[in-house]
Amino acid sequence: MAHHPSFTVLPTSLDADLILADTAADAEWARTDLSTLTEQEKNHAAEFEPDAGAIWVAGRVILRHVLGAHLDQDPAGIEIRLDSAGKPRIAECEFSVTRARRLVLVAVSEDPVGVDLEAVPSHDVAAEAMALLHPKEQSDLAEVDDSRLAEDFVRVWARKEAFLKALSTGLARDPGMDYIGAAVSPASPHPDVDIHDVESGIPEGYRAAIAFNR
Ligand SMILES: CC(C)(COP(=O)(O)OP(=O)(O)OC[C@H]1O[C@@H](n2cnc3c(N)ncnc32)[C@H](O)[C@@H]1OP(=O)(O)O)[C@@H](O)C(=O)NCCC(=O)NCCS
Repeated sequence: MAHHPSFTVLPTSLDADLILADTAADAEWARTDLSTLTEQEKNHAAEFEPDAGAIWVAGRVILRHVLGAHLDQDPAGIEIRLDSAGKPRIAECEFSVTRARRLVLVAVSEDPVGVDLEAVPSHDVAAEAMALLHPKEQSDLAEVDDSRLAEDFVRVWARKEAFLKALSTGLARDPGMDYIGAAVSPASPHPDVDIHDVESGIPEGYRAAIAFNR
C-alpha cells in the first residue's frame, strides 16, 4: 500500500525503508488526528505538556500509518508492544522511530534497526554534551576547529543513538562506553552491528544515522 501523501520516502541504498514526515508542514494533521491511537496511547500522550504531547502523538500516528502501509493493514489495528528495554515492537517486522523538533523519521527493515535524527545543536550545547561520549571521541572532538564542533558532535551522537537503538538498550547503555567516532566511516563497536549516516533527503540543520543489528 502507498505511504500517506504527506510523507516523503527517502532515497536510500540501505536495507531499510526510510520515511520522513514534517509535522509543521504537510504532516501537521498527525499532531491532532488521534483516530488510529489506542486508549493506552491517548492516555500516555495526555501525561505530557501539550506541545510535547502533540509531538509524541504525531510520532506514534505517523509510525502507525507507515507500518500500516508497509504491512497493508489498518494502522489502528497494529499491535505495538514495548519490550523490556522500552523499545516498541510488532510481530511482523523491525522498525525504529525518531523525532527531532518538527520532524519524524521512521525506518522499517527486516533486521533489528535503530534510527536517530538530531537537530544540530548550538556550539555550547555540543561542548557540554561531549562529556557523555567515549573518552577517545571526546579527545577527537577537542582537536576540531570550534566552528565545526557542533556538526561533528551531532554526527557522533546520531550514530551513537542509532547504535544503541539497534542494540535495543537505548541510553540504558552508557553512551560513553563505545567508540564510534566522527570519521567519514563510523566505527562499529559490535561485530553484528553496522552503522551508516543517512544524508539524502535530510533537511539542512539536521543529521541522521541508522544502524542494523544483523
Ligand atoms: C530510546 C532513546 C535513546 C530515545 O532517545 P531520544 O533522542 O530522546 O528520542 P528519539 O525520538 O530519537 O527516539 C524515541 C523512540 O525511541 C524508541 N525507543 C524507546 N526505547 C528504546 C530502546 N530501548 N531501544 C530502541 N528504541 C527505543 C521509541 O520508539 C521512542 O519513541 P516512542 O516514545 O514513540 O515510543 C532514549 O530515550 C532511551 O534510551 N530511553 C530508554 C532508556 C532510558 O530511559 N534511560 C534513561 C535515560 S538516561
